[in-house]
Amino acid sequence: MCGIVGYIGSKNAQDYLLSGLKRLEYRGYDSAGIVTLNGRPSLLRAKGKVAKLSEMIASHKTSDKVGIGHTRWATHGEPSEANAHPHRAGDIYLVHNGIIENYKQLKQELTEHQFDSQTDSEVLAALINSFYNNKTKLEDAVTQALQLVDGTYGIAVVSDREQDKVVVARQGSPLLIGVGDDETLIASDASALIGHTSEAIYLNDGELAVCTADSVELRDLASQPLSAKVEKIEVDMQAIQKQGYDHFLLKEIMEQPQTLANTLKGRVKADQHHAQLGGLNMTDDELREVRHVVIIGCGTALYAGQLAAYYLERLVDDVTIEVQIASEYRYRSFNLPENSVALVVSQSGETADTLACLREIKNRGARVLGVINAVGSTIAREVDGGVYVHAGPEISVASTKAFTSQVAAMTIFGLQLARAKGASLMELDKYIDELEALPGEIKALLEKITPEVEQAANKFTDYNDALYIGRDTLFPVALEGALKLKEISYIHAEGYAMGELKHGPIALVDDSFFEVALIQDNWLFDKSISGVQEVNARGGHILVVTNSTEPIEAEMVIRLDSKLDVLLPMLFNVVLQLFAYYVAVSRGTDVDQPRNLAKSVTVE
Ligand code: M6R
Repeated sequence: MCGIVGYIGSKNAQDYLLSGLKRLEYRGYDSAGIVTLNGRPSLLRAKGKVAKLSEMIASHKTSDKVGIGHTRWATHGEPSEANAHPHRAGDIYLVHNGIIENYKQLKQELTEHQFDSQTDSEVLAALINSFYNNKTKLEDAVTQALQLVDGTYGIAVVSDREQDKVVVARQGSPLLIGVGDDETLIASDASALIGHTSEAIYLNDGELAVCTADSVELRDLASQPLSAKVEKIEVDMQAIQKQGYDHFLLKEIMEQPQTLANTLKGRVKADQHHAQLGGLNMTDDELREVRHVVIIGCGTALYAGQLAAYYLERLVDDVTIEVQIASEYRYRSFNLPENSVALVVSQSGETADTLACLREIKNRGARVLGVINAVGSTIAREVDGGVYVHAGPEISVASTKAFTSQVAAMTIFGLQLARAKGASLMELDKYIDELEALPGEIKALLEKITPEVEQAANKFTDYNDALYIGRDTLFPVALEGALKLKEISYIHAEGYAMGELKHGPIALVDDSFFEVALIQDNWLFDKSISGVQEVNARGGHILVVTNSTEPIEAEMVIRLDSKLDVLLPMLFNVVLQLFAYYVAVSRGTDVDQPRNLAKSVTVE
């Protein structure tokens, strides 16, 4: 949600700022801007995507060596040039990610500043400026202002008067300082730094840094010096490029065999009946004591948790498993029984609701484990232990490969829990064998089924509404499939438990509507077929996805051919990812950056 970059060094600032913003654009893309300093500040802002700003920069090239930039996802004020960052107040320029909650009160007192925008961020710029006089250093003015602020921020600030520094600070919104050769680079996400430096300082909440070309001075908001820890950035250039695909989304769907293999690497070994996660920081004795697991997430991470919950329930029978929406759970007066463990699931590791939930659960004394993709992210740093899913950077705003890796990682957790509680190897082997087979099964599926799914997408592309239905483990897959379709194609889509159809949604069945029925050839097959017949009888249009070879009456049937059983729902999900992708392509939407969305939702 919003991307921040900053530069100070011996090279051209505009070059890094622009390339960084292009990399961070998936975090917000309704407007963008930069300011660089040298003599006169050069402030350039544009409504729309970074490409617009890029055109502007092309005709306003500077050789300035210091500057900051921002790509925005609107919270306060519509997308417009005036609301785009950087915001100016006096000599200072500021870019901000987060929300200043008390901005209205603060604004009332800042009577000397002429406000140009509707943003909370400009209020922060004006507040800093109100403390910035000839005797004050920029970092001290920023410190004084931040002491009055309620809310979340990642900020970078420069001043026309002190062009030898960039001041950055963080409270709740990620910020990294890349340490280069004779240059210091700022980014809200490591991907902007790739190719420039492989070393960075991850700012913690409540920290402020004064960056020059060759130094970073870290302190807290009481101006006490802190020591900075330089860490290695573990993302490679390949991982953040499209590698010949038309869209990141397609690339990320197609690379799942490999990214899933990375999730399983060293953790699952079928020939040794082994399934174990390294970083839980829990002994077998502690695992044996667990009686309650609550899985927390938002969006796709939540649905991954819902699917994994079915597996955990089947693997451990003396543990209650529940799944909760982070944005709801954090405000509930929940009771966590003794011996509870929370699994917080997040691709970005920055989602504000999930983070708040994690803190709330920790406050109540329960152990929190993370199931996280982004290495070094805030959630990963705050959990008591957990697992990196190692799916690699997910650039497309719609999440795909993270889902597959998250479900796999939670299933390994379930296996480890079951084993600690005395389950026999025989009982667990089915899951271990299927986990190990899963990357190959996804690969075979993608190679075989893609043209057929594209054909199905073309057939159903003109409908306005869709209902995804599935039973048992295919219910969360239906929810996730519907989310994918609505996010990227803008077709209204809902996921439902198939058994609920007759309790209401069947009233919607008509000619403008289509159903996607997910049917696994198992003990629920006959019941699922009844669900399809109920829709057929009312003239509905149905796309069936199934591994059954039985004849099924529907407008189109996509058949999966796989030896998987318990983990087969993961293949259904891949089919639905592809389906949503091709529908979106045929409708001509912006597949990787759908309207109104942003990757990594760092505001509540
Ligand atoms: O980074 P997170 O996994 O915490 O993100 C959670 C959701 O915001 C995310 O899954 C969102 O729903 C995606 N746009 C789904 O495609």
